[in-house]
Amino acid sequence: MVTFVETDVVIIGSGPAGASAALFLSTLGVPNIMITKYRWTANTPRAHITNQRTMEILRDVGVEDQVLADATPHHLIGDTVFCTAITGEEIGRILTWGTHPARHADHVLASPSLNCDIPQTYLEPILVRNATERGTRTQFSTEYLGHEQDSEGVTVRVLDRLTGNEYTIRAKYLIGADGARSAVAADIGLPYEGQMDVAGSMNITFKADLSELCRHRPSVLYWVIQPGANVGGIGAGLVRMVRPWNEWLIVWGFDLSQGVPEVTEQDALQIVRNLVGDPGLDAEITGISLWGNNEQYATRLHSGRVFCAGDAVHKHPPSNGLGSNTSIQDSYNLAWKLALVLSGQAGADLLETYSDERAPVARQIVTRANKSAREFGALFEALGLDASQSAAEMDARIEEHKDSSLAGAAKRAAVREAMELKNYEFNAHGVEMGQSYVSSAVVADGTEKPSPSRDPELYYEPSTWPGVRLPHAWVGDSRSKLSTHDLVPYGQFTLLTGITGEAWADAALKVVDRLGIPLRAVVVGPGREVTDLYFDWSRLSGVDEDGAVLVRPDKHVAWRAASAVQDPEAELLSVLTAVLSRE
Ligand code: FDA
Repeated sequence: MVTFVETDVVIIGSGPAGASAALFLSTLGVPNIMITKYRWTANTPRAHITNQRTMEILRDVGVEDQVLADATPHHLIGDTVFCTAITGEEIGRILTWGTHPARHADHVLASPSLNCDIPQTYLEPILVRNATERGTRTQFSTEYLGHEQDSEGVTVRVLDRLTGNEYTIRAKYLIGADGARSAVAADIGLPYEGQMDVAGSMNITFKADLSELCRHRPSVLYWVIQPGANVGGIGAGLVRMVRPWNEWLIVWGFDLSQGVPEVTEQDALQIVRNLVGDPGLDAEITGISLWGNNEQYATRLHSGRVFCAGDAVHKHPPSNGLGSNTSIQDSYNLAWKLALVLSGQAGADLLETYSDERAPVARQIVTRANKSAREFGALFEALGLDASQSAAEMDARIEEHKDSSLAGAAKRAAVREAMELKNYEFNAHGVEMGQSYVSSAVVADGTEKPSPSRDPELYYEPSTWPGVRLPHAWVGDSRSKLSTHDLVPYGQFTLLTGITGEAWADAALKVVDRLGIPLRAVVVGPGREVTDLYFDWSRLSGVDEDGAVLVRPDKHVAWRAASAVQDPEAELLSVLTAVLSRE
C-alpha cells in the first residue's frame, strides 16, 4: 500500500481559495495535490457576486467564458430593493454592482471584464475541473490531520475518509485554504486580530417561482425590513436570488447571546413566507444552515513553507461580496511567486511578500464588510425602528415616511441619506479594484501615490504607480482588440513601452539572458506588436513614450521609469533582482 506521495505544493481545501490556487499552479505547470474533506465541492450557494478583479483573473487563466456561461449576467444583478416584504411596501431601490449608468461607465472603463453572479456551487466545479484537467491531483473525501515542516519541505498527514487509511504527502510547500475554522492556520499559530462569532445568521435555501415579483426590478438582492430583521444577521433580512427566479437563499439573523436556535423546516417555511410576503407561498425548503458572523483577520499569512489563503485569513460577513473574490485574489498573488521560487528563478524571500501584500487587504476587507453590515443601522434609525417593536409598530413607523408633515419630510431625507450609505456596500468599486501593494516585490519610483480625486472606496482610479493594478486600455491592430491585461499573461513579467522606448525592449532581452526569467517586452505604437487603439494607454500609462512600465504576472505594477534612461539594461537588471529577491 502506498503511504507516501510527493509533490511540489499540497493544497488543503477545494473552496474558492484552494481550487483557484490549484488552477493557478497547474496553469503555471507546478505539480500539486489538492485534498478536500468532503465528497464534492460546496453544497450550498454561499458566494455569488464575482467582481471585476476576479473576472479578469479568471479571464487570464482562460475560464471566464465558462463562468459567464453559468452566471446570471451583469445587467440582471443590480436593481437592489429595500422593502417590508418582496410583495410589500418598497422603501427604496439602488442600482448596485455598477448597474447605474454612471457607475456602469466606470466599470466598462476599468476592466475588460464585467462582474456577474455565479453561485459558489457553480463556480467551484469550474475551478476544480480546470485545475484537474491541467494537472492537479484532486483527492476528495480526504482530510488534513496535521503537518511538520523542515528546511526542505512539509510532511502532511492526511486521512482517506473512505477507507480510514492515513498516509503522508511530502511537498515543498503547503497552502491551507481550509476555510474560516482553518486547522492549518491553527497549526502554524497565525496571529489574528478581531473576534469570531460576533452575530448569528442562518441560510435557508428554497425553490419558488418569484418571477412575477422580480421581472420589473431584476436583482440578486431583496432586503427586507421586518421585526427581527436587525437582530444578528447581516444588517437586514435578505432574499437572495440563486437562479433567476426560482431558486433563492434567505439570510436571517438570530441573537447569538441566546444560544443557537433549532430551526425546523416549518420555521424555515414561515421565515420564507414572511420575507416574501405571501402567507400561502408554495415553497420547497432545500436547506437550512446556521453560521456565525466573524470580524477577524490574520496579520501574517504564512509561517515558513506553510501559507494560508481565503477565509482562513479573513473572516467576515458576506456584505460587499468580498469573501470568495478575495480568496481567489490571495491565491493569484501567491501562485506565481511559488512557481518562480520552485523553478529557482526567484529567491525564497519573494514568498515573504505574500503576507506583506495580502495581510493589509485581509484587514481592509474584514473592516469594510463589517462596517457595511452595521451601516444598515442607519436605515432602521431613519425609519424610527428598533428591535423591540412589534410588526404593527414597525408598520406605523414606516408609514410615517409618507406623511405630508415636516416630520415626514425629515424622515424621507433621513431615509435617502441612509440609502446613500449603502453604496459603500454595493458600489464599492474602489475597494474591489484599488488594491495596492507595498513590499520588496515592488520598487518605488520616487513619486508619491496619487491622491484620489473621488472617494477611494467607491471609485477606482487607474494609475501605474508601483504596487497598483495595471490599468486596462484597449490595444491591438486592424485584426485584434486586446486589453492591456491580455499583454501580460500570468506566466511572465511584461515590460510595456512605446516606440521611442524601444531601447527598453532590447534591454529586456539581455536581462532574460542574464537572469533566465520569463520576461517579455511589448512595444505599443503604430506598426508595432499592438497599437494604442483609442489613445487611452498613452493617457493612462503614467510615463512618457520612451518610459516603461514593468508589470508582474499578477498584473500589479512592479516598477516604472518615467522616460528613457542612460543604461536601461542595468536599470532593469537591478529592479528585477530586487523584485525577485535574487542575490
Ligand atoms: P471555504 O470555506 O469555501 O472552503 C474551505 C475548504 O476547505 C472546503 O473545500 C472544505 O471542504 C475544506 N476543508 C476544511 N477543513 C478541511 C480539512 N481538515 N481537511 C481537508 N479539507 C478541509 N463571497 C464573495 O466573494 N461574494 C459573495 O457574494 C459572497 N456571498 C456570500 C453569501 C453568504 C450567505 C455566505 C455565507 C458567504 C458569502 N461569501 C461571498 C463568502 C464566501 O462564501 C467565502 O468567503 C468563501 O467560500 C471562502 O473561500 P475559502 O476557499 O477560503 O473557504
